[in-house]
Amino acid sequence: MIKHINAEFDTELRSLKDQILAMGGLVDAQVTEAVESLKARDIQRARAVIEADRAVNQMELAIDERCIRMLALRQPAASDLRFIAAALKMVTDLERIGDLAVNMAERVAEFAQAATNAVAAGFDGIELHGANGYLLEQFIRPTSNLRTDRYGGAIENRARFVLEVAEAAIVAIGKDKVGIRLSPFGVFNDMPAYPAMEADYAWLAGQLEARGLAYVHLVDHSPMGAPPVPDSIKATFRSVFRRALILSGGYDAARAERDLAAGRCDLVAVGRPFLANPDLVARWKAGAAVNEPDMGTFYTPGPKGYTDYPALAG
Ligand SMILES: Cc1cc2nc3c(=O)[nH]c(=O)nc-3n(C[C@H](O)[C@H](O)[C@H](O)COP(=O)(O)O)c2cc1C
Repeated sequence: MIKHINAEFDTELRSLKDQILAMGGLVDAQVTEAVESLKARDIQRARAVIEADRAVNQMELAIDERCIRMLALRQPAASDLRFIAAALKMVTDLERIGDLAVNMAERVAEFAQAATNAVAAGFDGIELHGANGYLLEQFIRPTSNLRTDRYGGAIENRARFVLEVAEAAIVAIGKDKVGIRLSPFGVFNDMPAYPAMEADYAWLAGQLEARGLAYVHLVDHSPMGAPPVPDSIKATFRSVFRRALILSGGYDAARAERDLAAGRCDLVAVGRPFLANPDLVARWKAGAAVNEPDMGTFYTPGPKGYTDYPALAG
């Protein structure tokens, strides 16, 4: 029964997604029309399905629920709709998440295949995404990993998936081509802090060191308003993990130079300044002013805010 309702709900969800994505520019009249048509859907039944099936497909349903709540409770603004469009796209990306319960070895093999494909396609290597509330981090954190099998419980079990994935990727393409992104103390995507965070990640640092990955990339989103990431965990990775350490989050040229000179990391990764400046390297080299990123265009579909920032004249 649940399966049957789910199939209908999935179809409904897909059609909602198609409608929103088809709206493209999201002008006001289209927004209003989309909100009205979305509101006409049977929210109550959708909620019932969500409640019934939560355990099977926790992540996908959390996103669905958030979309539905926003639609049910109030008139969403254009920015809400843009969020929903992005969230629904994530739902599509996550459609296969329920399979995780079935066969972990297959899931691990998929990562290895993806690594192989990336190198075959000409990439120098791959970065496993173990940060920001995505799948690997969901396994690492006890707040999202509620499994009672060998992939849940103590950190040795919660980290099993990410370490198996790392090992499989290394076998597939070589340890010099495999790095990992982690966000200790990150709370993005509903990943709350918990008491053993520092100890867990310190343990993980040692495990990654033992497997010989090319690098660890630590994300710090506190410059974007997230809770602070203690320097101590960065220092732990620096001392425990002996290959390259990349730090990111809120860097400008001066701060990057400072942290590199102080030996806090080997490389600095940059996000928003690159998004807002097609010629960031030239600007940093010249000590020129930079374009400020427009947050209103983050996570929105279409080229605006991605390819239309001006380069320096001349
Ligand atoms: C529009 C936008 C999209 C992003 N998408 C992702 C993503 O898909 N995965 C991810 O790990 N981080 C993502 N980030 C975060 C960045 O990778 C980076 O960690 C963050 O912007 C902080 O670095 P910064 O201060 O140099 O921008 C995104 C950031 C922005 C602004």
